[in-house]
Amino acid sequence: MDSLDAESAQSKDRYTPNTPERHKEFSPRHSNPKRLPNAFTILSRMNVSPSALSHSELYGLILNSVVPRPIAWVSTLSASGQPNLAPFSFFNCVCIEPPLLAFAPGLRPPKQPDSCHGEAKDTLRNVRETREFVINVVTYELAEPMNQTSGEYPASVNEFELAQIAPALSKVVKVPRVAASPVSFECKLYQILDFSPSPQSSSLVIGQVVSIHLDDAHLKEGKLDRNSLDLIGRMGGIQYTRTTQRFDMVRPKVG
Ligand SMILES: Cc1cc2nc3c(=O)[nH]c(=O)nc-3n(C[C@H](O)[C@H](O)[C@H](O)COP(=O)(O)O)c2cc1C
Repeated sequence: MDSLDAESAQSKDRYTPNTPERHKEFSPRHSNPKRLPNAFTILSRMNVSPSALSHSELYGLILNSVVPRPIAWVSTLSASGQPNLAPFSFFNCVCIEPPLLAFAPGLRPPKQPDSCHGEAKDTLRNVRETREFVINVVTYELAEPMNQTSGEYPASVNEFELAQIAPALSKVVKVPRVAASPVSFECKLYQILDFSPSPQSSSLVIGQVVSIHLDDAHLKEGKLDRNSLDLIGRMGGIQYTRTTQRFDMVRPKVG
């Protein structure tokens, strides 16, 4: 047990987010000041340059630290109309005006061993072809089927059918959405940023939201009831988290 763990175990006044009476509010004065790093922990901190790490070491370090990541369950259609569905946790909202969401499909190692360019995943290829996609959010209930759709299947596989996920019609785009997802964002392609042709690189797909589907079961007085959503997030490795353990915290007022 390191010193922080030992201290936490002893401290009876430690903030525990799932203690009901403390659920409503959290302010820095409730936290234990002893938990701030002292000079020793700062001095003993390891520093490493990304260029000194292998791809898998860097991948592990970043994916274990940048957590939890929301999951975009992205539906697309190929130019010939073949449906595709796959999850992406390199995902976030990046602008509200215009409303933009972005996710980053990585490239696949090339089939020809002498090529130094990676190959696009089906989702990226479909988005390039049709310039449309739908981002469906993922609840705890949908975790298993979402995971099934993450297999590296050939482009001819329809992951809606494979994972027995009911599709539903979208309003603006031709791409079907996931009927059971409580929130689906229909998107038109805004921009794709290709970072590098390296087989281990990614592209950032930015989509402009053109229509939003909300399940009535998650509406309260006509607005989305965030507390009723049981969405999941991706942690490092094969870990996931649920978003049901919440606390409130008021931002400082300045000026
Ligand atoms: C929860 C989860 C999150 C994922 N996030 C990403 C991601 O951000 N980028 C990526 O390239 N692959 C990600 N994957 C792997 C893709 O889902 C996988 O490569 C999939 O086969 C891509 O499908 P496609 O070829 O039909 O586009 C993730 C897998 C899971 C289970």
